[in-house]
Amino acid sequence: MPPFVLPDYRPVSYSRVTLTELMIPSYANFGGKIHGGILLSLMDKVAYAASSKHAGTYCVTVSVDGVNFMQPVEVGELVSLLASVNYVGRTSLLVGIKVTAEDVRTGLVKHTNTSYFTMVAKDDAGQPTQVPGLELETRDDVRRFQEAIKRRQFQQQYREQFDNARTSLAVDDQMGLLDGERCRIVY
Ligand SMILES: CC(C)(COP(=O)(O)OP(=O)(O)OC[C@H]1O[C@@H](n2cnc3c(N)ncnc32)[C@H](O)[C@@H]1OP(=O)(O)O)[C@@H](O)C(=O)NCCC(=O)NCCS
Repeated sequence: MPPFVLPDYRPVSYSRVTLTELMIPSYANFGGKIHGGILLSLMDKVAYAASSKHAGTYCVTVSVDGVNFMQPVEVGELVSLLASVNYVGRTSLLVGIKVTAEDVRTGLVKHTNTSYFTMVAKDDAGQPTQVPGLELETRDDVRRFQEAIKRRQFQQQYREQFDNARTSLAVDDQMGLLDGERCRIVY
């Protein structure tokens, strides 16, 4: 049999995956709601599934963006994580993940959050390796790809501005920042 050769491009639909998991009591915190860490772990899992499907290799998580838990998830709910590759660079992939929770008794589905995981494909030696390009099959695919480019640009600007602000931060000159904040200096 000839060796398997990765295609130059893969369609978005190839990497689309859904992970559904029942929220069992051992996932709950002291308040009876599901631990944020459980959801993060499921998001990491589905991001891995989507990215490694597209890349055809092992992938690692590099950064996580947009994790905001706006609504609690309850024990007994069915959580579904829908993931697909929204954008690819040379070796990196941006996976968009939509998380919903369904109350099986009422059929009510709530959208709990949408997050973005940046993953990097690795070869067998553990080095970043090129991934196939992305075939955009719908206008939504195009929109998500464009949004990902903007997201990268904003993140880059944010990193640069924050690094500049941090390196130029002289503690004594910035005391005004603490006005109205809930802290007190005790040294
Ligand atoms: C991420 C990692 C591969 C980057 O390695 P590197 O030697 O800096 O490689 P490169 O500079 O070639 O970057 C590889 C890709 O990662 C992207 N990248 C690097 N740092 C990034 C960051 N902070 N945010 C987003 N993307 C990043 C680069 O843009 C590049 O993408 P591209 O090829 O599509 O342009 C490396 O730091 C790593 O392996 N980290 C550990 C990841 C891991 O183990 N995660 C599991 C959780 S413990």
